[in-house]
Amino acid sequence: MYPFHMPGHKRNLESTPMKGAFRCDITEIDGFDNLHDESGIILEAQERANKLYGSDKTYFLVNGSTSGVLSAVSAALKEGETILAARGSHKSFYNAAYLRHLNIKYLPYKIDSRYGIPESYTKEDIIGSITEDVKCVFITSPTYEGKCSDIKAIADACHEKNIPLIVDAAHGAHFGFKGDEDFAGAEYQSIPYSAVKLGADLVIHSVHKTLPSMTQTALLHVQGNLIDRDRLKRFLRIYQSSSPSYILMSSIDLCIKEIQENGREFVDNLLKYRNKIQIATAKCRCLEIPGKSAIDDAAKVLIYVRNGTMTGQALYDILREEYNLQLEMAGDKYALAIISGWDTNEGIDRLISAVLEIDARLAADDRQKDGSAHKSCDNKHSNTEECYKAKDDSTYDLECRLPEVAMSIGIAWDAETENVAFNDAEGRISAEFVNLYPPGIPLIAPGEVFSKEIIDEIVHYLDEGMNVQGLVDRKGFICVRQK
Ligand SMILES: Cc1ncc(COP(=O)(O)O)c(C=O)c1O
Repeated sequence: MYPFHMPGHKRNLESTPMKGAFRCDITEIDGFDNLHDESGIILEAQERANKLYGSDKTYFLVNGSTSGVLSAVSAALKEGETILAARGSHKSFYNAAYLRHLNIKYLPYKIDSRYGIPESYTKEDIIGSITEDVKCVFITSPTYEGKCSDIKAIADACHEKNIPLIVDAAHGAHFGFKGDEDFAGAEYQSIPYSAVKLGADLVIHSVHKTLPSMTQTALLHVQGNLIDRDRLKRFLRIYQSSSPSYILMSSIDLCIKEIQENGREFVDNLLKYRNKIQIATAKCRCLEIPGKSAIDDAAKVLIYVRNGTMTGQALYDILREEYNLQLEMAGDKYALAIISGWDTNEGIDRLISAVLEIDARLAADDRQKDGSAHKSCDNKHSNTEECYKAKDDSTYDLECRLPEVAMSIGIAWDAETENVAFNDAEGRISAEFVNLYPPGIPLIAPGEVFSKEIIDEIVHYLDEGMNVQGLVDRKGFICVRQK
């Protein structure tokens, strides 16, 4: 099984010296340090990570970006305040809103209508949504599928209003490191700048997702004067284990050292692999791997099925079952592979061969069905020119409607509930999240009102056999607030 998924070390033993992990599984004994009150070797390791990304202060996280998002949101707002965020935010964001009784104001829900993936945000989106009550903005960039928002302009817009910007960059730990300006130079223009460099106040990086570090390892960066450092530290102590793993912490430190020493080679490899995939698959007729104009992050290889000749899940299953290629996830019309600088030529070649073979099969089926032209598989969007060099502006936005909000998540989640049949749910207030996986964007959140459209949408996804989570059962019951 070849791993086109997290973690970024790809089980490549050469990517990490973490062999014999028990040897470094220490605890807060003499001569060592305490993550919750660091003053020695952990502080020094955090400072090394900080140097790479260039914020004011960097904290190690041993409970994943999850603990970083919880701490950042909790520190940036007081209980009951309002935060502006995208609907597609990770569940740790919603959990923070629940724990701190926050009100969420949503940004317009934008979908790239060609590939059906969440769209990125511009300064105008933010300015159009910041009202007086908004005390903080929360943006995910890059998204799971690799779209990046205009963080510099958004940070400027937030700072004009004197409110902080949190960027959930869990998937962007490999973006432009500070200290080696060449990373942002001509050769590397395909690697976006990190959200730290672009001026966000709080940035969360899962080093385990795209860099060679162990699962659960992440970083939280803070800069500027809008975030109270003592509050932030208090919440880090609340949300993280009181026994932080030295294996995880040393994994972060070794990962940072690896990037400092070989980061240039990592970026070279990532772009080389990505461009190889892009060029080799450019002439596919039924499958398409969108390039830089649609996907900013070179690490995300979206294999899109044109015109519904196959579902994303079917493509994912074929790659797994027939080619032993395990991808990260399947969407409605695509399967998503994650690549990193620690992939191998052999692995990349296997992915390319599989994509070409499946494409040829689909094209042959198509010809048989149609008898003449390659109607459904016509390559109208050749990606030959889309190597990772420069960005153009072609996006395809679609705004979707969000449900009416009756009360905050905190109030709705703590209320008395009952289960009702789908048919009787119209007008009732949801007491649960109902999510479509992947990527897990809520169809409805606690405190929102079931409309006929939402109920029909859920029934449609169930009929299609898709993975809808948060229902009482798949037969037709939903959890709502008692009247
Ligand atoms: C956008 C985003 N933020 C945060 C997280 C949480 O990261 P972790 O698994 O490191 O806790 C994830 C995990 O998938 C994510 O996709």
